[in-house]
This record gives sequence, C-alpha cells and structure tokens, in this order.
Amino acid sequence: YTSDAYPNVKRNPNFAELSADDVAHFKELLGSQSAVIDGVTTDATDDIEPFNSDWMRKYRGHTRLVLKPKDAQEVSKVLKYCNERKLAVVPQGGNTGLVGGSVPVFDEIVINTSRMNQIRSFDAASGVLVADAGVILEVADQYLAEREHLFPLDLGAKGSCHIGGNVSTNAGGLRLLRYGSLHGSVLGLEAVLPDGTVVDALSTLRKNNTGYDLKQLFIGSEGTIGLVTAVAIQCPPRPKAVNVAYFGLESFEQVQQAYLAAKGQLSEILSAFELMDGRSQKLVIESTGNKHPLEGEYPFYCLVETSGSNAEHDMEKLESFLENVMGEGIVADGVLAQDETQFQALWRWREGITESLSHLGGTYKYDVSIPLADLYQLVEDCKARLTEKGFVGDDDSFPVRAVVGYGHMGDSNLHLNVAVRQYNKEVEKAIEPWVYEWIQKRQGSISAEHGLGVAKREFIGYSQNETMVKLMKQLKNLYDPNGIMNPYKYI
Ligand code: FAD
Ligand code: MLT
Ligand code: ZN
Repeated sequence: YTSDAYPNVKRNPNFAELSADDVAHFKELLGSQSAVIDGVTTDATDDIEPFNSDWMRKYRGHTRLVLKPKDAQEVSKVLKYCNERKLAVVPQGGNTGLVGGSVPVFDEIVINTSRMNQIRSFDAASGVLVADAGVILEVADQYLAEREHLFPLDLGAKGSCHIGGNVSTNAGGLRLLRYGSLHGSVLGLEAVLPDGTVVDALSTLRKNNTGYDLKQLFIGSEGTIGLVTAVAIQCPPRPKAVNVAYFGLESFEQVQQAYLAAKGQLSEILSAFELMDGRSQKLVIESTGNKHPLEGEYPFYCLVETSGSNAEHDMEKLESFLENVMGEGIVADGVLAQDETQFQALWRWREGITESLSHLGGTYKYDVSIPLADLYQLVEDCKARLTEKGFVGDDDSFPVRAVVGYGHMGDSNLHLNVAVRQYNKEVEKAIEPWVYEWIQKRQGSISAEHGLGVAKREFIGYSQNETMVKLMKQLKNLYDPNGIMNPYKYI
C-alpha cells in the first residue's frame, strides 16, 4: 500500500480501514444524498474519481467515501467519529489546489465543503461578509458586486475554488499587491477540530487584541489542524473604474524599471502588476488560437491594472504612464483596454496560462518568492540546466515541451513551470532539489502562495528552519493528536 506519486510514502497502519458499518453510520448522520461511495457497500453512488484526482491530474488517491456535510455541526459529528475510529480525512473545497493537498494519498475519507454554500450576512457599512466555507469565490464576488463591494481575492480558478479552500491555502492571486493577504482581510472564522470541537472565532471586528490570534493558524495550514466551516472577511468597495494596460518589453531589466515607474506614477490606483514571459504567451496563442494584442514578439510582457473611482482620471494616468515608459524606451509596445470586452481579453493573456500549460501533458510547478532582481534568472538557469542535460530540444523526442515563467511581479512571486509530455522522474530529479537549493541561497520561499501539500512535503526545510518546523509539529500534535487531518502532507 504505497502512494503512486510517492513510492517512499507508506500508509500509516494506525489508521483504520473504512467498513460498511462506518458507511452506514455516516449515512444515518448526514443522509444518503451527502455521501459518494464506491465499493464499500453495494450501493455505489456518483462517480468518485473527480474527488480522488487533483486539478493537474498528477496526484491520485484511493478514497471510497466522500462526505458532504452541510454545516459545522455535521462536520463536528463526522470528525468526532473519525477521530475516535482513527479514520483519516482530507478536507476538500473546489479541488483546484496545485500541490496535491486536496486529494487523498491513500484511502482517506474526503470531506467536501460543496454543500456548505450559504452566504450568512453582509454588512454594507463595514464591508464585512460572513459566508460558509463552500461558497465558490466567484459566487461570493458576484454577491458582493450586487452590493458595490469586491472580494479582496481574485484568481484564475475563481469559478471553482471555495472560499474555505482559499483561506486554508492562504491564496494570493492577482491583486494581493492592492488588497493584501488573507492574513489581513480575514477577520474571523469558524472551524472544527478533529475531536469535534467547534471553534467559534467568527469575529467581524477589525481590531481585537485579546490574546493569541488563533484564527491565523487555520489560514494557510492546508487542512492539517481542522476544517474551516465559515469565514468573516473584510471586503473593500468595488472600484468604480478599472483599467488595464498590456505591454511588451525587451529585457527583465526593463520589466523592473516599468514596475518601479508603475508604482511611482500609478501609486494609489495600481491594483495589479503581472509578468508573463514570451514563451507563456505563445502557449496561450497555441491553445486558444487568439490573435495576440501586440504586433511584435517580445521576451517579456506585463499587465498593469488600475482600480480607482474616476474612470477618466485613471485612464489619463494610465495613458500617461504608458507614454512615459514608451518614451523612455523602457516599454517597446503596449495597448490599453478600451472597453469591458478588451479588458477581459487582455486579462485572459495572463489568467489563461495555467490552463494552456495543462494541455501540454504534465507540468512541474514551482511557485516561489525571490528578491525581484533575481526573479527571472531562475527560469533562465532552469532552462539552461535542462538543456545541458539533454531534456530540451526542437522535436518530440525531448521530454520537456516548455520552460516558462510568469507571476505576480508586484509580490516578487514567480511561477516557474516546466511542461513535459508526460510526468518524468528523470526530469523531476534534474529540477529537484536543485531548484530549492537555488531559492534557499537567495533566502527565498519555496512556496509563495500555493502551499506545500504533498508536492513539497519533503522540502519544507529549504524555507523553514528546524525550530519553526518543530513548533509546527507541536501545534499539529496539540490540535490533531491522532494525526487524522490531511495526513502524508507537509507536516
Ligand atoms: P482545494 O484545492 O480543495 O484544497 C486546497 C487545500 O486546502 C487542501 O490542502 C485542502 O485539504 C485544504 N482545504 C480546502 N478546504 C478546506 C477547509 N474548508 N478547511 C480546511 N482545509 C481545507 N492559488 C493562488 O494562491 N493564487 C493564484 O493566482 C492561483 N491561481 C490558480 C489558477 C488556476 C487555473 C488554478 C487551477 C489554481 C490556482 N491557484 C491559485 C491554486 C488554487 O486555486 C488555490 O490554492 C485555491 O485557494 C484552492 O481552493 P480550493 O477550494 O480549490 O481548495
Ligand atoms: C497563477 O498565478 O496563474 C496561479 O498561481 C496558477 C499558476 O501558478 O499556474
Ligand atoms: Zn499565482
């Protein structure tokens, strides 16, 4: 009983195996419509496969039971029973995570949040939204749009990911530069511990200095200490004017100059500064067939967004920024979106990269924080290394199809992606741990926003020292002494 993706990971024999009695118990507890079963009893229900495989189709577990509780009380009963029986579980939201954290490694029970999908309240005066963990990010944002507010997080998977999943991964996304991290905007949350305790930390207060801020532990802990059932989040007013510019540049040096210029000239209205390399944009052309917005080809492209309250004034500012950077020879060519359709189309050149990559076969994804000056050097060095090792070449006999870089320039967060025809251990070994050593040398982080999950479980030491890992383990043991919450992952 070893994992396909990690042959050196063995199933923990302390965990019980699911029995027909357990299934009967859960059905009684939740009702049969909230369970997806395969093979444990004779009454197999829906297809269980989507809950077992991750978005990248890289990790595949073997659960035979998916439970969909509808509120914290049901989660509490489920977890209490699992804890007593030592049945391991995996919390799962929209299953869009990119590090294999949301799917079982072996036969862990999946607890999916899709039925916890109610918006509980919204207060227009304070901008605080309280919603169940299973509300889809785009649904929450649409609800807020109708009330002239905005969810302070946006990312390419918004149509599927759940806000509980966002909080549990501490997702960063496309506008962290403007709206900050969830560690700041989440004001409170409700979560259930493995022993069934419901942690009511659902404060809606902006300021609350009364002891340890325990809710922070759940933000970004990837389902390893408890299951988040609701979130209270501070939402800003929806900007009345949003503009976007897309431009091409000849060097990474110029990308940095453009970023500095954007910060200086657009300051209070700057809401995103994203980077895409030339190869990533070619992939989007190949997979969508769309015509590229610029005539020439450039090694780098950037997308700059402004969000403010006066469309004319903001557009003037963005136009004059573009004129300046083009006049100074920093930017080679650029376009501004003139309407909503063009706005969406320009954003697709950035948001569409992840999906375009997914059409190529497999992707080794590295989501890193490194000082800005070195940001793109990682892509160059990785490409040189893989070429030298004979993995990159012009025809189909080479395993690597593309080495691309893109990311959240404004957060010093690069996404290095190595697309392969199919997952290939030799290529993986050529990249890892080399890539982590590269990052460690520059005091970077091996995971800026996607988390560690199972993909990076062995590499936490490259970004956290022994004391930090020891403290994390102590917390894990305190909250989850039987280790049933999302086992085999990073902790
Ligand atoms: P899942 O994938 O279901 O779960 C992710 C992790 O959280 C797992 O470890 C799971 O066990 C745990 N978890 C889920 N729900 C709960 C809960 N209620 N309680 C406790 N633990 C829970 N990420 C970014 O940071 N920035 C991006 O820009 C970004 N863009 C993306 C674009 C695309 C196209 C895709 C496919 C993914 C992208 N991601 C991005 C990654 C992913 O969307 C985020 O990590 C997202 O926050 C995951 O939400 P989810 O509901 O899908 O969680
Ligand atoms: C993004 O910024 O597009 C996401 O983090 C997803 C990815 O890294 O591909
Ligand atoms: Zn990202």
